[in-house]
Amino acid sequence: MRAFAAIDHESRRQNAQLTFKHNLHQGRHGWLRLTPAYSLRLVTEILRRTKYAASVLDPFSGTGTTPLCAGYLGLRGTGLEINPFLVWLGSAKSRHFLPATIKRASDLGASIAVASSSPQSPRLSPPPIHNISRWWNETELDFLCRLKACICDAAEEGAEERDLLLVAFCRTVITLSNAAFNHQSMSFKDKDDSPQLFDLQRDHSDIFRKGLAFVLDGAADNPRTTPGIVTGDARNASRFLRDKYDTLITSPPYPNRISYIRELRPYMYWLGYLTNGRDAGEFDWQAIGGTWGIATSRLVNWEPSGKAFVPDKLKKAIAGISRPENPHGVLLANYVAKYFEDIWDHIVDVRAVLNDDAEVHYIVGNSTFYRTLLPVEEIYKEMLEHAGFHDVQIIRIRKRSSKAELFEYDVTGKKNQPTKQSTVRETRRRLSRR
Ligand SMILES: C[S@@+](CC[C@H](N)C(=O)[O-])C[C@H]1O[C@@H](n2cnc3c(N)ncnc32)[C@H](O)[C@@H]1O
Repeated sequence: MRAFAAIDHESRRQNAQLTFKHNLHQGRHGWLRLTPAYSLRLVTEILRRTKYAASVLDPFSGTGTTPLCAGYLGLRGTGLEINPFLVWLGSAKSRHFLPATIKRASDLGASIAVASSSPQSPRLSPPPIHNISRWWNETELDFLCRLKACICDAAEEGAEERDLLLVAFCRTVITLSNAAFNHQSMSFKDKDDSPQLFDLQRDHSDIFRKGLAFVLDGAADNPRTTPGIVTGDARNASRFLRDKYDTLITSPPYPNRISYIRELRPYMYWLGYLTNGRDAGEFDWQAIGGTWGIATSRLVNWEPSGKAFVPDKLKKAIAGISRPENPHGVLLANYVAKYFEDIWDHIVDVRAVLNDDAEVHYIVGNSTFYRTLLPVEEIYKEMLEHAGFHDVQIIRIRKRSSKAELFEYDVTGKKNQPTKQSTVRETRRRLSRR
């Protein structure tokens, strides 16, 4: 029986309940959106099936969906994430909040909502986001600068209520913005889509108040165990993690040129994680699959280390992408080659933090470059097998877009070949840990 037996027959459909859309109204999972986040339903279904798992790792934790799901099921959840803003968000979402903290955040929020709508209240300078007027008009920007100043003034750095207020602030930043989410990555609304008169009449403080009420509702629903979110690089996971895990569930970046820094830049600039465009490119270069700013120019000169396993299917796809008739073929071929070299480093290293009969689930999507299909799921399968994983299988989960050939898959396998003794031993060990 497979995790998705019940939904596999629907895999030709776009199953929105298996994406971040399903998370939007689910308490803490819906605090802030990240388009490439996956759905808690997907994770919960896998976790319910792996019934002896006591500890769960997501080495590409993003908004913290996996560790938080594990926490709500009473399992030990850990996320590893390279982006400092997502580490902050994942940690805030994972925290155990006492009623007194929620009450303090609520009281402070009520005063802040009043103070920030007064033109007399102090205001911070707007963040140095390129072309900021595309994001917010002058009135909105002015309100956000006052709101941020009021929050910083009211709650000390490090105080738990400050994080709750800042999550509500981030919700307000996006609600007031001109950002549109109807594409695969974040874009801007068309001029005709922004009802100007309505915008002028929007009660900005009320948007903050409602955002905070939603955040506090989620904060009151504590997970049964508190997950941990660790800052680190999944290519060297064993350097950052001390424990061992029974189950790995993750959706790594897909090789589809989505830049997380690009998606997250409004939050990252407002909260001070980014102060200039060059750093944005540096962050993206550190992340797997990053393409923003300087990351692209470095890709042009990137050369393979020669140490990674390169399956024939990957070699064939790289040759197809780099054909001379493809205008940016060499750049994109380098992009794909580097992506898989990074994933190979991750797969080899992560074995060190998995228990002997651990199960892994990589949720991945395939891509096309020019007319070359990149069979991402098959390349992951070959890499996992080559690194020593057993019983590796590909399960198709859902169709991804209107393009007939794009799907999302669960590539799943076991760290080792299970033996009778190891199964009995592991079952005892896990039961004794509960
Ligand atoms: C598809 S997203 C994960 C989304 C997550 N499943 C969720 O529900 O929010 C991939 C994540 O991998 C992170 N990432 C990229 N390179 C990384 C690396 N080398 N080590 C750790 N995390 C990395 C990105 O910052 C991004 O948050």
